[in-house]
Amino acid sequence: MGELDGKVAIVTGAGRGIGEQVARKLADAGAHVVVSDRDGAEAEAVVGALATPGAAHVGDLTGAGVCDDLVATAVDTFGRLDIVVNNAGYAWDGPLHKVTDEQYQAMLDIHTVVPFRVLRAAAPHLREPAKAEKKAGEEVFRKVVNVTSLAGVMGNAGQVAYASGKGAIVGLTRATAKEWGGFKVNVNCVAFGVIETRLTAPVGTVGEVEAGSSGEKITLGVPEVVRQGFGMAIPLGRAASAEEAARGVYFLCSPGSDYVHGQVLNVSGGLSLGMAS
Ligand SMILES: NC(=O)c1ccc[n+]([C@@H]2O[C@H](COP(=O)([O-])OP(=O)(O)OC[C@H]3O[C@@H](n4cnc5c(N)ncnc54)[C@H](O)[C@@H]3O)[C@@H](O)[C@H]2O)c1
Repeated sequence: MGELDGKVAIVTGAGRGIGEQVARKLADAGAHVVVSDRDGAEAEAVVGALATPGAAHVGDLTGAGVCDDLVATAVDTFGRLDIVVNNAGYAWDGPLHKVTDEQYQAMLDIHTVVPFRVLRAAAPHLREPAKAEKKAGEEVFRKVVNVTSLAGVMGNAGQVAYASGKGAIVGLTRATAKEWGGFKVNVNCVAFGVIETRLTAPVGTVGEVEAGSSGEKITLGVPEVVRQGFGMAIPLGRAASAEEAARGVYFLCSPGSDYVHGQVLNVSGGLSLGMAS
């Protein structure tokens, strides 16, 4: 018996990195997981390795109708929806004076508009069952976890566009938590510090991705000189693995967090970028 037996989850950006590890943990606990990613081979491979039957949804979530199609895939395949993890993302960095309109919009699109669209499509499946459960005198908790970053909560030089998208998702989270609390849908954020994935690998070692509406190729990774500073800046002395990062998300998907609502959980090894209200 797993604590998530019978639950159905969507994890976006689950073809690799943190999202893959979240999908694995949810399946290990018994949930059926829809693995969403723009990269089809990676998404299929993750599904094939899950402990429970899952499904892949392949598509660029910023495309018209793709978020609706994702939610329909989950409900058509497994008949219900209990957990949504909005994790897909990437960093298209640059100092404010060099950020283009397309770059800024791309960071808002993937980090805030896509999560909003996924939740809007998921709304009937998360809210309607709760009405019948309430009538029957039952409380059944469903879960939304939105992935943000310390950059979004506290700011980070060179990440104006990324920080804007990751900041806005905190507002989306807190407002949705106030709307959906009555339906027992817990809505929370996880703010990551530095996690070892291709986003934080040495620049030039992990290739490029297509970004924005033009499909411009951008290089992923972090300069070595910045990477060398991570150990000093992080009180726990190192970056986290993707598996360690996924533990924080799992907690907010599990019954252990049923009374945690509208919060931002920092999973950062104590790293704080230092500007909080
Ligand atoms: N790695 C870190 O240190 C760190 C820190 C703070 C926040 N985050 C956030 O954590 C999340 C996961 O990042 P990661 O480090 O695992 O990166 P990753 O690149 O390993 O995984 C992200 C996945 O998202 C997918 N994706 C990106 N854009 C997509 C789109 N438009 N449609 C569908 N899929 C898309 C990618 O194909 C990829 O498989 C992101 O939101 C990221 O911003 C990461």
